[in-house]
Amino acid sequence: MSKSDRAPAWPIYRRLLGFATPYRNLLLLALGGMLIEAAAGSAFMKLMEPVVDETFISKNSELSLILPLAIVGLFVIRGIAGYITDVCMGKSARSIARDLRVRVLGKYLRLPGLRFDSEPVPSMLMRLGSDSDQVANAAVDAAKVMLQQSLQIIGALVVMLWTSWQVTIAILVMAPPLAVLMDKVAKRYRRFSHRVQESGGRLMQAADQTLNNQQEVKIYGAQDAELARYGALADENLRLSMKVESTRSISSAVVQLMGAVGLALLLFFAGREAAAGRLSAGGFVTLMMAMMAMIPALKQLTNVQNMLQKGIASAERLFGVLDADEERDGGARELTRARGELEFRAIGARYPGQGEPALTDIRFVAKPGTVTAIVGRSGSGKSTLIKLIPRFYEPASGEILLDGHPLTDYRLADLRRQIALVGQQVMLFDGSVAANVAYGELADSPGEGLRHALDAAYASEFVDKLSEGSGTGIGAKGGRLSGGQRQRLVIARAILKDAPILILDEATASLDTESERLVQDALNRLMSDRTTLVIAHRLSTIEHADQVLVLDQGRLVEQGTHAELLAQGGLYAHLHRMQFREPGSADAPG
Ligand SMILES: Nc1ncnc2c1ncn2[C@@H]1O[C@H](COP(=O)(O)OP(=O)(O)OP(=O)(O)O)[C@@H](O)[C@H]1O
Ligand SMILES: [Mg+2]
Repeated sequence: MSKSDRAPAWPIYRRLLGFATPYRNLLLLALGGMLIEAAAGSAFMKLMEPVVDETFISKNSELSLILPLAIVGLFVIRGIAGYITDVCMGKSARSIARDLRVRVLGKYLRLPGLRFDSEPVPSMLMRLGSDSDQVANAAVDAAKVMLQQSLQIIGALVVMLWTSWQVTIAILVMAPPLAVLMDKVAKRYRRFSHRVQESGGRLMQAADQTLNNQQEVKIYGAQDAELARYGALADENLRLSMKVESTRSISSAVVQLMGAVGLALLLFFAGREAAAGRLSAGGFVTLMMAMMAMIPALKQLTNVQNMLQKGIASAERLFGVLDADEERDGGARELTRARGELEFRAIGARYPGQGEPALTDIRFVAKPGTVTAIVGRSGSGKSTLIKLIPRFYEPASGEILLDGHPLTDYRLADLRRQIALVGQQVMLFDGSVAANVAYGELADSPGEGLRHALDAAYASEFVDKLSEGSGTGIGAKGGRLSGGQRQRLVIARAILKDAPILILDEATASLDTESERLVQDALNRLMSDRTTLVIAHRLSTIEHADQVLVLDQGRLVEQGTHAELLAQGGLYAHLHRMQFREPGSADAPG
Protein backbone atom coordinates (compact mmCIF):
# COMPACT_ATOMS: atom_id res chain seq x y z
CA MET A 1 0.00 0.00 0.00
CA SER A 2 1.77 3.10 -1.17
CA LYS A 3 -1.15 5.28 -0.25
CA SER A 4 0.69 7.09 2.52
CA ASP A 5 3.53 7.95 0.14
CA ARG A 6 1.11 10.05 -1.80
CA ALA A 7 -1.09 11.39 0.96
CA PRO A 8 -0.09 14.89 1.95
CA ALA A 9 1.71 14.65 5.26
CA TRP A 10 0.96 18.12 6.56
CA PRO A 11 -2.78 17.75 7.28
CA ILE A 12 -2.07 14.52 9.12
CA TYR A 13 0.65 16.16 11.12
CA ARG A 14 -1.55 19.11 11.90
CA ARG A 15 -4.23 16.78 13.16
CA LEU A 16 -1.63 15.05 15.27
CA LEU A 17 -0.60 18.35 16.77
CA GLY A 18 -4.22 18.67 17.81
CA PHE A 19 -3.57 15.80 20.19
CA ALA A 20 -0.73 17.82 21.70
CA THR A 21 -2.87 20.85 22.62
CA PRO A 22 -3.80 19.56 26.09
CA TYR A 23 -0.09 19.52 26.84
CA ARG A 24 0.77 22.94 25.47
CA ASN A 25 2.06 24.29 28.80
CA LEU A 26 4.50 21.42 29.09
CA LEU A 27 5.56 21.99 25.51
CA LEU A 28 6.08 25.72 26.08
CA LEU A 29 8.24 24.96 29.07
CA ALA A 30 10.21 22.57 26.91
CA LEU A 31 10.60 25.25 24.25
CA GLY A 32 11.99 27.63 26.89
CA GLY A 33 14.47 24.93 27.89
CA MET A 34 15.54 24.50 24.28
CA LEU A 35 16.12 28.20 23.78
CA ILE A 36 18.32 28.38 26.86
CA GLU A 37 20.16 25.26 25.79
CA ALA A 38 20.90 26.66 22.34
CA ALA A 39 21.92 30.04 23.74
CA ALA A 40 24.30 28.41 26.20
CA GLY A 41 25.77 26.27 23.42
CA SER A 42 26.32 29.26 21.17
CA ALA A 43 27.83 31.30 23.99
CA PHE A 44 30.30 28.48 24.54
CA MET A 45 31.39 28.58 20.91
CA LYS A 46 31.81 32.31 20.96
CA LEU A 47 33.78 31.97 24.17
CA MET A 48 36.41 30.04 22.25
CA GLU A 49 37.50 33.22 20.54
CA PRO A 50 38.70 34.99 23.73
CA VAL A 51 39.90 31.65 25.11
CA VAL A 52 42.33 31.18 22.25
CA ASP A 53 43.22 34.79 21.63
CA GLU A 54 43.63 35.84 25.27
CA THR A 55 45.00 32.69 26.88
CA PHE A 56 47.33 31.45 24.16
CA ILE A 57 48.09 34.41 21.98
CA SER A 58 48.03 37.42 24.36
CA LYS A 59 48.79 35.23 27.43
CA ASN A 60 46.40 37.34 29.51
CA SER A 61 46.43 35.87 33.04
CA GLU A 62 43.53 37.93 34.35
CA LEU A 63 41.10 35.84 32.40
CA SER A 64 42.72 32.51 33.27
CA LEU A 65 40.24 31.87 36.08
CA ILE A 66 37.14 33.54 34.68
CA LEU A 67 37.09 31.68 31.36
CA PRO A 68 37.25 28.14 32.80
CA LEU A 69 34.57 29.07 35.32
CA ALA A 70 32.43 30.52 32.55
CA ILE A 71 32.73 27.26 30.62
CA VAL A 72 31.58 25.18 33.60
CA GLY A 73 28.79 27.65 34.31
CA LEU A 74 27.53 27.48 30.71
CA PHE A 75 27.40 23.72 30.82
CA VAL A 76 25.55 23.69 34.13
CA ILE A 77 22.90 25.97 32.60
CA ARG A 78 22.79 23.88 29.45
CA GLY A 79 22.42 20.67 31.43
CA ILE A 80 19.53 21.95 33.52
CA ALA A 81 17.75 23.39 30.48
CA GLY A 82 18.26 20.12 28.59
CA TYR A 83 16.82 18.14 31.48
CA ILE A 84 13.71 20.30 31.60
CA THR A 85 13.27 19.95 27.85
CA ASP A 86 13.63 16.17 27.92
CA VAL A 87 11.25 15.63 30.80
CA CYS A 88 8.55 17.92 29.46
CA MET A 89 8.77 16.54 25.96
CA GLY A 90 8.84 12.94 27.18
CA LYS A 91 5.80 13.48 29.35
CA SER A 92 3.86 15.06 26.50
CA ALA A 93 4.79 12.32 24.04
CA ARG A 94 3.82 9.48 26.36
CA SER A 95 0.61 11.28 27.29
CA ILE A 96 -0.33 11.67 23.64
CA ALA A 97 0.35 7.98 23.03
CA ARG A 98 -1.81 7.12 26.00
CA ASP A 99 -4.68 9.35 24.82
CA LEU A 100 -4.50 7.85 21.36
CA ARG A 101 -4.53 4.25 22.43
CA VAL A 102 -7.43 4.76 24.78
CA ARG A 103 -9.37 6.52 22.04
CA VAL A 104 -8.57 3.87 19.46
CA LEU A 105 -9.63 1.00 21.72
CA GLY A 106 -12.85 2.86 22.50
CA LYS A 107 -13.41 3.33 18.80
CA TYR A 108 -12.78 -0.34 18.02
CA LEU A 109 -15.51 -1.26 20.46
CA ARG A 110 -17.94 0.94 18.55
CA LEU A 111 -17.11 -0.49 15.14
CA PRO A 112 -19.50 -2.89 13.44
CA GLY A 113 -18.94 -6.64 13.50
CA LEU A 114 -17.84 -6.65 9.87
CA ARG A 115 -14.71 -4.74 10.79
CA PHE A 116 -13.56 -7.62 12.94
CA ASP A 117 -13.86 -9.98 9.98
CA SER A 118 -11.65 -7.78 7.82
CA GLU A 119 -9.03 -6.65 10.33
CA PRO A 120 -7.34 -9.34 12.40
CA VAL A 121 -6.98 -8.67 16.10
CA PRO A 122 -3.14 -8.70 16.03
CA SER A 123 -3.20 -5.83 13.60
CA MET A 124 -5.53 -4.01 15.98
CA LEU A 125 -3.00 -4.69 18.71
CA MET A 126 -0.34 -3.10 16.51
CA ARG A 127 -2.44 0.05 16.27
CA LEU A 128 -2.69 0.20 20.03
CA GLY A 129 0.96 -0.67 20.56
CA SER A 130 3.68 0.42 18.22
CA ASP A 131 1.54 2.70 16.08
CA SER A 132 0.50 4.77 19.07
CA ASP A 133 4.09 5.05 20.25
CA GLN A 134 5.39 5.98 16.86
CA VAL A 135 2.77 8.62 16.48
CA ALA A 136 3.78 10.12 19.79
CA ASN A 137 7.39 10.09 18.62
CA ALA A 138 6.44 11.88 15.47
CA ALA A 139 4.29 14.42 17.20
CA VAL A 140 6.68 15.28 19.97
CA ASP A 141 10.11 13.70 19.79
CA ALA A 142 10.53 14.65 16.17
CA ALA A 143 9.36 18.15 16.89
CA LYS A 144 11.80 18.27 19.75
CA VAL A 145 14.79 17.20 17.72
CA MET A 146 13.72 19.49 14.93
CA LEU A 147 13.43 22.55 17.15
CA GLN A 148 16.42 21.71 19.28
CA GLN A 149 18.72 21.09 16.36
CA SER A 150 17.38 23.97 14.32
CA LEU A 151 17.96 26.30 17.25
CA GLN A 152 21.48 24.97 17.54
CA ILE A 153 22.09 25.53 13.87
CA ILE A 154 20.70 29.03 14.09
CA GLY A 155 22.82 29.71 17.15
CA ALA A 156 25.90 28.41 15.38
CA LEU A 157 25.11 30.50 12.31
CA VAL A 158 24.72 33.63 14.40
CA VAL A 159 28.05 32.97 16.05
CA MET A 160 29.67 32.41 12.67
CA LEU A 161 28.22 35.54 11.10
CA TRP A 162 29.25 37.52 14.11
CA THR A 163 32.77 36.16 13.93
CA SER A 164 33.26 36.52 10.18
CA TRP A 165 30.34 37.06 7.86
CA GLN A 166 32.54 36.80 4.78
CA VAL A 167 33.61 33.25 5.56
CA THR A 168 30.13 32.26 6.67
CA ILE A 169 28.47 33.40 3.48
CA ALA A 170 31.04 31.62 1.37
CA ILE A 171 30.29 28.42 3.23
CA LEU A 172 26.50 28.84 3.00
CA VAL A 173 26.78 28.13 -0.70
CA MET A 174 27.05 24.51 0.44
CA ALA A 175 23.54 24.43 1.86
CA PRO A 176 21.28 23.88 -1.20
CA PRO A 177 23.01 20.79 -2.64
CA LEU A 178 23.10 19.34 0.84
CA ALA A 179 19.37 19.82 1.22
CA VAL A 180 18.63 18.17 -2.12
CA LEU A 181 20.73 15.15 -1.23
CA MET A 182 19.11 14.78 2.16
CA ASP A 183 15.67 14.89 0.65
CA LYS A 184 16.47 12.12 -1.83
CA VAL A 185 17.77 9.86 0.88
CA ALA A 186 14.79 10.55 3.13
CA LYS A 187 12.27 9.62 0.43
CA ARG A 188 13.87 6.26 -0.09
CA TYR A 189 13.95 5.64 3.62
CA ARG A 190 10.30 6.49 4.00
CA ARG A 191 9.28 3.99 1.35
CA PHE A 192 11.14 1.12 2.94
CA SER A 193 10.26 1.85 6.53
CA HIS A 194 6.61 1.75 5.61
CA ARG A 195 7.03 -1.67 4.06
CA VAL A 196 9.04 -2.92 7.02
CA GLN A 197 6.16 -2.07 9.30
CA GLU A 198 3.63 -3.89 7.21
CA SER A 199 5.88 -6.88 7.05
CA GLY A 200 6.24 -6.73 10.84
CA GLY A 201 2.47 -6.87 11.13
CA ARG A 202 2.27 -9.97 8.97
CA LEU A 203 5.04 -11.57 10.98
CA MET A 204 3.18 -10.99 14.21
CA GLN A 205 -0.04 -12.29 12.79
CA ALA A 206 1.62 -15.51 11.67
CA ALA A 207 3.18 -16.03 15.08
CA ASP A 208 -0.09 -15.26 16.80
CA GLN A 209 -1.87 -17.94 14.80
CA THR A 210 0.81 -20.52 15.37
CA LEU A 211 1.06 -19.91 19.09
CA ASN A 212 -2.65 -19.73 19.71
CA ASN A 213 -3.13 -23.00 17.89
CA GLN A 214 -0.11 -24.69 19.39
CA GLN A 215 -2.03 -27.82 20.26
CA GLU A 216 -3.19 -28.32 16.68
CA VAL A 217 0.29 -27.54 15.42
CA LYS A 218 1.74 -30.25 17.62
CA ILE A 219 -0.94 -32.84 17.02
CA TYR A 220 -0.82 -32.45 13.24
CA GLY A 221 2.97 -32.22 13.18
CA ALA A 222 2.76 -28.86 11.46
CA GLN A 223 5.79 -27.36 13.22
CA ASP A 224 7.98 -27.45 10.12
CA ALA A 225 5.32 -25.97 7.87
CA GLU A 226 4.51 -23.26 10.40
CA LEU A 227 8.20 -22.50 10.91
CA ALA A 228 8.77 -22.37 7.18
CA ARG A 229 5.91 -19.93 6.73
CA TYR A 230 7.12 -17.81 9.62
CA GLY A 231 10.71 -18.09 8.38
CA ALA A 232 9.76 -16.84 4.93
CA LEU A 233 7.98 -13.86 6.44
CA ALA A 234 10.94 -13.23 8.74
CA ASP A 235 13.31 -13.32 5.74
CA GLU A 236 11.21 -10.74 3.99
CA ASN A 237 11.24 -8.61 7.11
CA LEU A 238 15.00 -8.97 7.37
CA ARG A 239 15.50 -8.00 3.75
CA LEU A 240 13.40 -4.87 4.12
CA SER A 241 14.99 -3.97 7.45
CA MET A 242 18.42 -4.18 5.86
CA LYS A 243 17.31 -1.82 3.13
CA VAL A 244 16.14 0.63 5.74
CA GLU A 245 19.37 0.18 7.65
CA SER A 246 21.57 0.76 4.63
CA THR A 247 19.56 3.78 3.61
CA ARG A 248 19.93 5.20 7.07
CA SER A 249 23.66 4.62 7.01
CA ILE A 250 24.08 6.13 3.55
CA SER A 251 22.16 9.13 4.69
CA SER A 252 24.51 9.86 7.59
CA ALA A 253 27.59 9.16 5.51
CA VAL A 254 26.40 11.66 2.94
CA VAL A 255 25.78 14.28 5.58
CA GLN A 256 29.21 13.75 7.09
CA LEU A 257 30.90 14.02 3.74
CA MET A 258 29.13 17.32 3.25
CA GLY A 259 30.54 18.41 6.59
CA ALA A 260 34.06 17.53 5.60
CA VAL A 261 33.77 19.44 2.36
CA GLY A 262 32.44 22.37 4.34
CA LEU A 263 35.41 22.24 6.66
CA ALA A 264 37.78 22.23 3.72
CA LEU A 265 36.04 25.28 2.34
CA LEU A 266 36.23 26.93 5.74
CA LEU A 267 39.95 26.42 5.87
CA PHE A 268 40.32 27.83 2.38
CA PHE A 269 38.31 30.99 2.98
CA ALA A 270 39.49 31.50 6.56
CA GLY A 271 43.07 31.39 5.34
CA ARG A 272 42.37 34.26 2.95
CA GLU A 273 40.57 36.28 5.61
CA ALA A 274 43.38 35.74 8.09
CA ALA A 275 45.91 36.88 5.51
CA ALA A 276 43.82 40.03 5.08
CA GLY A 277 43.96 40.56 8.87
CA ARG A 278 40.23 40.19 9.39
CA LEU A 279 40.24 36.90 11.32
CA SER A 280 42.17 35.95 14.47
CA ALA A 281 43.23 32.44 15.47
CA GLY A 282 40.48 32.47 18.11
CA GLY A 283 37.97 33.53 15.50
CA PHE A 284 38.97 30.59 13.34
CA VAL A 285 38.58 28.15 16.25
CA THR A 286 35.11 29.56 16.94
CA LEU A 287 34.13 29.23 13.30
CA MET A 288 35.36 25.68 13.21
CA MET A 289 33.55 24.72 16.40
CA ALA A 290 30.34 26.26 15.15
CA MET A 291 30.58 24.27 11.95
CA MET A 292 31.41 21.07 13.79
CA ALA A 293 28.35 21.61 15.96
CA MET A 294 26.23 22.00 12.88
CA ILE A 295 27.16 18.65 11.38
CA PRO A 296 25.57 16.39 14.00
CA ALA A 297 22.63 18.78 14.20
CA LEU A 298 22.06 18.43 10.46
CA LYS A 299 22.46 14.69 10.69
CA GLN A 300 19.83 14.51 13.38
CA LEU A 301 17.58 16.67 11.28
CA THR A 302 17.71 14.15 8.44
CA ASN A 303 16.82 11.38 10.88
CA VAL A 304 13.92 13.47 12.08
CA GLN A 305 12.50 13.32 8.63
CA ASN A 306 12.47 9.55 8.90
CA MET A 307 10.99 9.57 12.36
CA LEU A 308 8.29 11.90 11.13
CA GLN A 309 7.51 9.75 8.14
CA LYS A 310 7.15 6.65 10.25
CA GLY A 311 4.94 8.50 12.65
CA ILE A 312 2.82 9.90 9.88
CA ALA A 313 2.33 6.46 8.37
CA SER A 314 1.25 5.23 11.80
CA ALA A 315 -0.96 8.25 12.34
CA GLU A 316 -2.67 7.62 9.04
CA ARG A 317 -3.52 4.11 10.15
CA LEU A 318 -4.76 5.34 13.52
CA PHE A 319 -6.83 8.09 11.97
CA GLY A 320 -8.18 5.50 9.55
CA VAL A 321 -9.54 3.69 12.60
CA LEU A 322 -10.78 6.85 14.30
CA ASP A 323 -12.55 7.96 11.13
CA ALA A 324 -14.16 4.59 10.36
CA ASP A 325 -17.94 4.44 10.38
CA GLU A 326 -19.32 3.34 13.70
CA GLU A 327 -22.20 0.99 14.26
CA ARG A 328 -25.36 2.72 13.19
CA ASP A 329 -27.27 3.82 16.24
CA GLY A 330 -30.03 6.13 15.07
CA GLY A 331 -33.01 4.88 17.04
CA ALA A 332 -34.80 6.95 19.64
CA ARG A 333 -37.66 4.70 20.80
CA GLU A 334 -37.78 4.19 24.56
CA LEU A 335 -37.21 0.63 25.71
CA THR A 336 -36.72 -0.41 29.28
CA ARG A 337 -37.87 -3.99 29.19
CA ALA A 338 -39.15 -5.62 26.02
CA ARG A 339 -41.93 -8.22 26.01
CA GLY A 340 -39.67 -10.19 23.74
CA GLU A 341 -41.65 -10.79 20.59
CA LEU A 342 -39.29 -11.14 17.66
CA GLU A 343 -40.38 -11.12 14.06
CA PHE A 344 -38.18 -11.68 11.04
CA ARG A 345 -39.67 -10.17 7.88
CA ALA A 346 -38.11 -11.29 4.62
CA ILE A 347 -34.60 -11.06 5.98
CA GLY A 348 -31.70 -11.35 3.58
CA ALA A 349 -28.04 -11.12 4.59
CA ARG A 350 -24.80 -11.19 2.68
CA TYR A 351 -21.21 -10.91 3.81
CA PRO A 352 -19.06 -8.58 1.72
CA GLY A 353 -17.10 -10.50 -0.88
CA GLN A 354 -19.31 -13.61 -0.66
CA GLY A 355 -21.08 -14.60 -3.84
CA GLU A 356 -24.03 -16.36 -2.27
CA PRO A 357 -26.18 -14.58 0.30
CA ALA A 358 -25.82 -16.06 3.78
CA LEU A 359 -29.58 -15.70 4.37
CA THR A 360 -32.47 -15.35 1.93
CA ASP A 361 -36.05 -14.36 2.69
CA ILE A 362 -36.22 -15.56 6.28
CA ARG A 363 -39.64 -15.06 7.87
CA PHE A 364 -40.78 -16.26 11.28
CA VAL A 365 -42.14 -15.03 14.58
CA ALA A 366 -40.80 -15.95 18.00
CA LYS A 367 -43.50 -15.33 20.62
CA PRO A 368 -42.57 -14.12 24.10
CA GLY A 369 -41.64 -16.93 26.43
CA THR A 370 -41.22 -19.54 23.69
CA VAL A 371 -38.23 -21.52 22.55
CA THR A 372 -37.26 -21.45 18.89
CA ALA A 373 -34.71 -24.05 17.92
CA ILE A 374 -32.64 -23.41 14.80
CA VAL A 375 -31.17 -26.41 13.03
CA GLY A 376 -29.39 -26.95 9.76
CA ARG A 377 -26.17 -28.15 8.25
CA SER A 378 -22.89 -26.38 8.87
CA GLY A 379 -22.77 -23.14 6.90
CA SER A 380 -26.53 -22.98 6.50
CA GLY A 381 -26.69 -19.55 8.14
CA LYS A 382 -27.65 -20.29 11.74
CA SER A 383 -25.02 -18.13 13.38
CA THR A 384 -25.62 -15.37 10.86
CA LEU A 385 -29.31 -15.36 11.76
CA ILE A 386 -28.78 -14.91 15.48
CA LYS A 387 -26.03 -12.32 15.01
CA LEU A 388 -28.59 -10.04 13.36
CA ILE A 389 -30.63 -9.74 16.55
CA PRO A 390 -28.11 -7.78 18.66
CA ARG A 391 -27.24 -5.97 15.39
CA PHE A 392 -23.68 -7.26 15.25
CA TYR A 393 -24.39 -7.32 11.53
CA GLU A 394 -27.10 -5.51 9.60
CA PRO A 395 -29.41 -7.41 7.24
CA ALA A 396 -29.11 -6.55 3.56
CA SER A 397 -32.87 -6.60 3.13
CA GLY A 398 -36.00 -7.06 5.20
CA GLU A 399 -36.70 -6.05 8.75
CA ILE A 400 -36.49 -7.53 12.21
CA LEU A 401 -39.14 -6.34 14.64
CA LEU A 402 -38.96 -6.42 18.40
CA ASP A 403 -42.37 -5.95 20.05
CA GLY A 404 -43.67 -4.72 16.70
CA HIS A 405 -41.03 -2.07 16.02
CA PRO A 406 -37.95 -2.37 13.82
CA LEU A 407 -34.73 -3.02 15.73
CA THR A 408 -33.25 0.11 14.20
CA ASP A 409 -35.87 2.23 16.00
CA TYR A 410 -34.33 1.41 19.35
CA ARG A 411 -31.13 2.73 20.76
CA LEU A 412 -28.41 0.14 20.31
CA ALA A 413 -27.53 -0.01 24.00
CA ASP A 414 -31.20 -0.41 24.96
CA LEU A 415 -31.67 -3.18 22.43
CA ARG A 416 -28.61 -5.06 23.60
CA ARG A 417 -29.73 -4.73 27.20
CA GLN A 418 -32.70 -6.96 26.25
CA ILE A 419 -30.47 -9.78 25.09
CA ALA A 420 -28.49 -12.40 26.94
CA LEU A 421 -26.06 -14.32 24.81
CA VAL A 422 -24.46 -17.66 25.51
CA GLY A 423 -22.16 -18.51 22.65
CA GLN A 424 -20.52 -21.69 21.52
CA GLN A 425 -17.19 -20.41 22.69
CA VAL A 426 -17.20 -19.51 26.31
CA MET A 427 -16.10 -15.91 26.76
CA LEU A 428 -14.46 -15.31 30.08
CA PHE A 429 -12.01 -12.66 31.17
CA ASP A 430 -8.98 -12.72 33.41
CA GLY A 431 -10.53 -11.82 36.75
CA SER A 432 -12.51 -13.23 39.64
CA VAL A 433 -15.61 -15.43 39.35
CA ALA A 434 -17.70 -12.53 40.63
CA ALA A 435 -16.25 -10.05 38.15
CA ASN A 436 -16.93 -12.46 35.31
CA VAL A 437 -20.53 -13.10 36.25
CA ALA A 438 -21.39 -9.53 37.22
CA TYR A 439 -19.80 -8.21 34.05
CA GLY A 440 -20.23 -4.83 32.36
CA GLU A 441 -23.49 -3.13 33.31
CA LEU A 442 -24.16 -5.95 35.75
CA ALA A 443 -21.20 -4.89 37.87
CA ASP A 444 -23.43 -2.91 40.26
CA SER A 445 -25.86 -5.74 40.88
CA PRO A 446 -26.24 -6.65 44.57
CA GLY A 447 -24.44 -9.58 46.16
CA GLU A 448 -27.53 -11.75 46.63
CA GLY A 449 -28.28 -11.43 42.90
CA LEU A 450 -24.88 -12.91 42.17
CA ARG A 451 -25.45 -15.65 44.75
CA HIS A 452 -28.79 -16.51 43.22
CA ALA A 453 -27.39 -16.57 39.68
CA LEU A 454 -24.57 -18.89 40.71
CA ASP A 455 -27.06 -21.17 42.49
CA ALA A 456 -29.44 -21.23 39.54
CA ALA A 457 -26.61 -22.05 37.17
CA TYR A 458 -25.45 -24.92 39.42
CA ALA A 459 -22.18 -23.07 39.72
CA SER A 460 -22.19 -22.58 43.50
CA GLU A 461 -21.22 -26.17 44.09
CA PHE A 462 -17.79 -25.64 42.56
CA VAL A 463 -17.41 -21.91 43.26
CA ASP A 464 -17.77 -22.54 47.00
CA LYS A 465 -14.92 -25.02 46.83
CA LEU A 466 -12.54 -22.49 45.30
CA SER A 467 -9.99 -21.02 47.71
CA GLU A 468 -11.55 -17.57 47.84
CA GLY A 469 -15.09 -18.42 46.76
CA SER A 470 -16.46 -16.07 44.15
CA GLY A 471 -13.45 -13.79 44.67
CA THR A 472 -11.12 -16.40 43.19
CA GLY A 473 -9.29 -15.51 39.98
CA ILE A 474 -10.08 -17.87 37.12
CA GLY A 475 -7.03 -17.16 34.94
CA ALA A 476 -6.93 -15.85 31.39
CA LYS A 477 -9.97 -17.11 29.44
CA GLY A 478 -11.02 -19.04 32.54
CA GLY A 479 -8.08 -21.40 32.14
CA ARG A 480 -8.26 -22.62 35.73
CA LEU A 481 -11.79 -24.03 35.33
CA SER A 482 -13.09 -27.11 33.56
CA GLY A 483 -15.12 -26.82 30.39
CA GLY A 484 -18.41 -27.51 32.17
CA GLN A 485 -17.58 -25.06 34.94
CA ARG A 486 -16.81 -22.35 32.42
CA GLN A 487 -20.13 -22.96 30.70
CA ARG A 488 -22.02 -22.73 33.95
CA LEU A 489 -20.33 -19.41 34.78
CA VAL A 490 -21.41 -18.00 31.45
CA ILE A 491 -24.93 -19.25 32.11
CA ALA A 492 -24.84 -17.60 35.54
CA ARG A 493 -23.91 -14.36 33.83
CA ALA A 494 -26.90 -14.67 31.52
CA ILE A 495 -29.19 -15.50 34.46
CA LEU A 496 -27.97 -12.43 36.32
CA LYS A 497 -28.66 -10.29 33.28
CA ASP A 498 -32.27 -11.56 33.31
CA ALA A 499 -32.94 -10.31 29.80
CA PRO A 500 -36.25 -11.00 28.00
CA ILE A 501 -34.44 -12.44 24.98
CA LEU A 502 -31.98 -15.27 25.20
CA ILE A 503 -29.71 -16.30 22.37
CA LEU A 504 -27.98 -19.61 22.71
CA ASP A 505 -25.47 -21.30 20.51
CA GLU A 506 -25.27 -24.77 21.97
CA ALA A 507 -21.82 -26.21 22.38
CA THR A 508 -21.18 -28.99 19.89
CA ALA A 509 -18.57 -30.71 22.01
CA SER A 510 -20.42 -32.67 24.66
CA LEU A 511 -19.20 -32.84 28.19
CA ASP A 512 -19.26 -35.93 30.35
CA THR A 513 -22.74 -37.04 31.34
CA GLU A 514 -22.66 -35.56 34.82
CA SER A 515 -21.41 -32.15 33.66
CA GLU A 516 -23.68 -32.22 30.66
CA ARG A 517 -26.72 -32.74 32.85
CA LEU A 518 -25.74 -29.84 35.12
CA VAL A 519 -25.19 -27.54 32.17
CA GLN A 520 -28.44 -28.68 30.58
CA ASP A 521 -30.41 -28.11 33.77
CA ALA A 522 -28.83 -24.68 34.16
CA LEU A 523 -29.79 -23.85 30.59
CA ASN A 524 -33.36 -25.02 31.11
CA ARG A 525 -33.69 -22.69 34.05
CA LEU A 526 -32.22 -19.87 32.03
CA MET A 527 -34.66 -20.45 29.17
CA SER A 528 -37.83 -20.33 31.20
CA ASP A 529 -39.97 -17.22 30.65
CA ARG A 530 -37.77 -15.79 27.96
CA THR A 531 -37.92 -15.62 24.21
CA THR A 532 -35.20 -18.09 23.42
CA LEU A 533 -33.50 -18.63 20.09
CA VAL A 534 -31.19 -21.58 20.26
CA ILE A 535 -28.91 -23.08 17.69
CA ALA A 536 -29.58 -26.59 18.78
CA HIS A 537 -27.34 -29.61 18.68
CA ARG A 538 -29.07 -31.61 21.40
CA LEU A 539 -32.14 -33.62 20.66
CA SER A 540 -33.71 -32.78 24.02
CA THR A 541 -33.52 -29.06 23.27
CA ILE A 542 -35.27 -29.54 19.97
CA GLU A 543 -37.93 -31.86 21.35
CA HIS A 544 -38.91 -29.28 23.94
CA ALA A 545 -38.81 -26.32 21.58
CA ASP A 546 -42.09 -24.62 20.67
CA GLN A 547 -40.96 -24.38 17.07
CA VAL A 548 -38.04 -25.63 15.03
CA LEU A 549 -36.61 -23.66 12.09
CA VAL A 550 -34.73 -25.72 9.56
CA LEU A 551 -32.22 -23.73 7.51
CA ASP A 552 -30.59 -24.89 4.33
CA GLN A 553 -28.23 -22.74 2.27
CA GLY A 554 -29.55 -19.62 3.91
CA ARG A 555 -33.23 -20.43 3.33
CA LEU A 556 -35.86 -21.39 5.84
CA VAL A 557 -36.96 -24.70 4.35
CA GLU A 558 -39.08 -26.20 7.12
CA GLN A 559 -40.80 -24.88 10.21
CA GLY A 560 -42.86 -26.63 12.90
CA THR A 561 -42.53 -28.72 16.04
CA HIS A 562 -40.21 -31.66 16.29
CA ALA A 563 -43.07 -34.12 15.86
CA GLU A 564 -44.59 -32.25 12.90
CA LEU A 565 -41.27 -32.05 11.12
CA LEU A 566 -40.48 -35.69 11.71
CA ALA A 567 -43.83 -36.60 10.25
CA GLN A 568 -43.09 -34.49 7.14
CA GLY A 569 -40.14 -36.71 6.36
CA GLY A 570 -38.12 -33.86 4.80
CA LEU A 571 -34.71 -32.37 5.54
CA TYR A 572 -35.35 -32.28 9.27
CA ALA A 573 -36.19 -35.97 9.39
CA HIS A 574 -32.99 -36.61 7.47
CA LEU A 575 -30.87 -34.42 9.75
CA HIS A 576 -32.49 -36.03 12.73
CA ARG A 577 -31.36 -39.45 11.63
CA MET A 578 -27.85 -38.26 10.89
CA GLN A 579 -27.02 -35.66 13.41
CA PHE A 580 -28.80 -35.13 16.68
CA ARG A 581 -27.70 -37.03 19.63
CA GLU A 582 -28.75 -37.23 23.19
CA PRO A 583 -25.99 -36.84 25.78
CA GLY A 584 -25.06 -40.19 27.18
CA SER A 585 -26.88 -41.98 24.42
CA ALA A 586 -24.38 -41.27 21.70
CA ASP A 587 -23.95 -44.96 21.05
CA ALA A 588 -27.64 -45.67 20.95
CA PRO A 589 -29.15 -46.00 17.50
CA GLY A 590 -30.92 -42.75 16.89
N1 LIG B 1 -17.67 -13.30 8.87
C1 LIG B 1 -17.98 -13.87 7.71
N2 LIG B 1 -17.52 -13.36 6.54
C2 LIG B 1 -17.87 -13.91 5.37
N3 LIG B 1 -18.66 -14.97 5.24
C3 LIG B 1 -19.16 -15.52 6.35
C4 LIG B 1 -18.85 -15.01 7.64
N4 LIG B 1 -19.48 -15.75 8.56
C5 LIG B 1 -20.16 -16.70 7.86
N5 LIG B 1 -19.97 -16.56 6.55
C6 LIG B 1 -20.58 -17.40 5.50
O1 LIG B 1 -21.98 -17.36 5.65
C7 LIG B 1 -22.55 -18.62 5.53
C8 LIG B 1 -23.35 -18.95 6.77
O2 LIG B 1 -22.47 -19.04 7.86
P1 LIG B 1 -22.95 -19.29 9.35
O3 LIG B 1 -21.80 -19.03 10.23
O4 LIG B 1 -24.18 -18.49 9.59
O5 LIG B 1 -23.31 -20.84 9.33
P2 LIG B 1 -23.79 -21.79 10.51
O6 LIG B 1 -25.07 -22.32 10.09
O7 LIG B 1 -23.70 -21.07 11.79
O8 LIG B 1 -22.71 -22.94 10.45
P3 LIG B 1 -22.10 -23.80 11.69
O9 LIG B 1 -23.12 -24.77 12.09
O10 LIG B 1 -20.93 -24.45 11.05
O11 LIG B 1 -21.74 -22.84 12.77
C9 LIG B 1 -21.40 -19.59 5.29
O12 LIG B 1 -21.40 -19.89 3.91
C10 LIG B 1 -20.17 -18.83 5.68
O13 LIG B 1 -19.11 -19.14 4.79
MG1 LIG C 1 -22.48 -21.28 13.52
